[in-house]
Amino acid sequence: MVDTAALRARFRSETGADPEGFWYGPGRVNLIGEHTDYNDGFVLPFALSQRAVVAASRRDDGQLVMSSLELDDRQHIALADLRPGTGGWSGYLAGVAWALQQAGHRVGGATLVLSSDVPLGAGLSSSAAIECAVVAAFVDLYGLDIAPMERARFAQRAENDYVGAPTGLLDQAASTLCSEGEGLFMDCRSLRTTPVPLDFASQSLELLVLDTKTPHSHVDGEYGARRASCEEAARILGLTSLRDVEDLSAALERLGDETLRRRVRHVITENERVVQTLELARSRRLEDLGPVLDASHASMRDDYEITVPTVDLAARTARAAGALGARMTGGGFGGCIIALVRLGAAEAVARAVERAFADAGHGPPEWFVATPSAGAGRLTG
Ligand code: GLA
Repeated sequence: MVDTAALRARFRSETGADPEGFWYGPGRVNLIGEHTDYNDGFVLPFALSQRAVVAASRRDDGQLVMSSLELDDRQHIALADLRPGTGGWSGYLAGVAWALQQAGHRVGGATLVLSSDVPLGAGLSSSAAIECAVVAAFVDLYGLDIAPMERARFAQRAENDYVGAPTGLLDQAASTLCSEGEGLFMDCRSLRTTPVPLDFASQSLELLVLDTKTPHSHVDGEYGARRASCEEAARILGLTSLRDVEDLSAALERLGDETLRRRVRHVITENERVVQTLELARSRRLEDLGPVLDASHASMRDDYEITVPTVDLAARTARAAGALGARMTGGGFGGCIIALVRLGAAEAVARAVERAFADAGHGPPEWFVATPSAGAGRLTG
């Protein structure tokens, strides 16, 4: 839990006054639909109870003054001086002001003090959580009229164009649009979203999230390389995007390159798995989801080649310890797995992974049971 009293105290010590308010953006778990968003495909994430929170007030000097409780750092920059690529951690905040300004929204300066309990670099969208919290803060502070999906797009622009990570819309849409107790099915082409009931407990289940502590980053090359392969395959097939593949076997035959074939197979079969998941969730048959999660993991491991040995070990061990299914979640190359387990079994499964990690000489993982939670907004009370 973010300590809002500590945030308030820090805000007061920096400005001599209370903040005008607190705004939050949640991290997310992608239940299924990995690397499908930038292929105009389907995703089904939900928001976590772990959040980034900003204490914020307007300023009339055109400055952005940004502090992080966890990093114990403070940065400032004039709105007029914002340029893509400026600033490490503060780029996620400044990038939002930049994106809003670029689109002609009238935003002024702000003091923003940030604290987050979303694990960093774990594939749980710690960066989108910050961006979406800051969008929510600017919208309220400056009375902007921006529809929810557009808010997510501004957060994405901050990440793509200001920070420089070529990600899709999954994370920011989840962090902005999700509701408590629900997942969000999104068609990334039409941007149509459908809330999906995700009440694990009433189906005697729980979803374990286990962080392997193998850190990852999307600013480096592998994510962009996967994206480029998909674009190349679509170009060879004469399609706008891989979403338009209608006959998978015919498409695979036309692609000469084995790597491209595997990438395409992942994207198309993953889209099918999202639709299967949607149907299971809607008919409250989440206990049948295990094999779908397992197949997604295998596809990411063998076809998309974005898992790493610790992640594979975690998923394998979770299954052996009784999980109904397990898969890596997020962009890949490290980060977290999710495991669907019977209600009350999360701890035993996590301990089994902990032992397997110790035997293999890895540091201990961290884990929690996920609670589908509300999307970004203002903290009340
Ligand atoms: C990261 C990106 C998302 C999405 C996932 C993979 O989280 O930010 O846009 O592509 O990876 O599904």
